[in-house]
Amino acid sequence: MRLQKYMAKCGVASRRKSEELIAEGLVQVNGRIIIEPGLVIDPDKDVVKVNNKIVRLESNKVYIMLNKPVGYVTTLKDEKDRNIVTDLIEGVNERIYPVGRLDIDTSGLLILTNDGDLTQKLTHPSNKIVKRYIAVVEGVPNRIELERFRNGLRIDGRKTSKASVKIAKRYEHDSILDIEIYEGRNRQVKKMCEAINHPVKKLKRVSIGEIIIGGLEIGNWRYLDQEEIDYLKSL
Ligand code: URA
Repeated sequence: MRLQKYMAKCGVASRRKSEELIAEGLVQVNGRIIIEPGLVIDPDKDVVKVNNKIVRLESNKVYIMLNKPVGYVTTLKDEKDRNIVTDLIEGVNERIYPVGRLDIDTSGLLILTNDGDLTQKLTHPSNKIVKRYIAVVEGVPNRIELERFRNGLRIDGRKTSKASVKIAKRYEHDSILDIEIYEGRNRQVKKMCEAINHPVKKLKRVSIGEIIIGGLEIGNWRYLDQEEIDYLKSL
């Protein structure tokens, strides 16, 4: 099996992201750093380490939801030595990885798992799962700005697909928006709010499809129940 495919199967990251990790020199096979992707490995014999930790195909799959606090990164390793979300998951022996990402200053629902197939499915751009966010933004958007947000606007040279937005609360200088998007582009909500001239001050993800953060306290985590797991696999 090719190295990046093996890494993706183990849940480390998508194949493309795994290629980046390889190019960054974070991956070892049998103690040797591999820079070129495409190396064929034998999952039964070769020892693969990512970021100095062994990764293996785990038969015991775990599925977790975390209410991510601000100040934590969703990457595997941080050059600036910032806090990593997996530091918050104590007592789980399996190596789990975040499904998709949240910015360091975004809080809320993050799913983590060692099920690489599910991660790849959920993060694939063709999979248009609704993600709901609550955003505190500067000012109060008017009707035209809200329509632009809903109909799609150009960010990073490409139009966003249809989105929902409602004003949940108005204050004198800020407002709270209830937002639903179906894509997972980099810093998408912030860029969309910036594009209508209402920059985000605070952002929280509250649901991914039917998986809802509910009353889970910030910084806490729990295992997903069987119904939630079956639902995610059905997407
Ligand atoms: N959109 C953003 O801008 N940031 C996130 O963390 C998630 C969605």
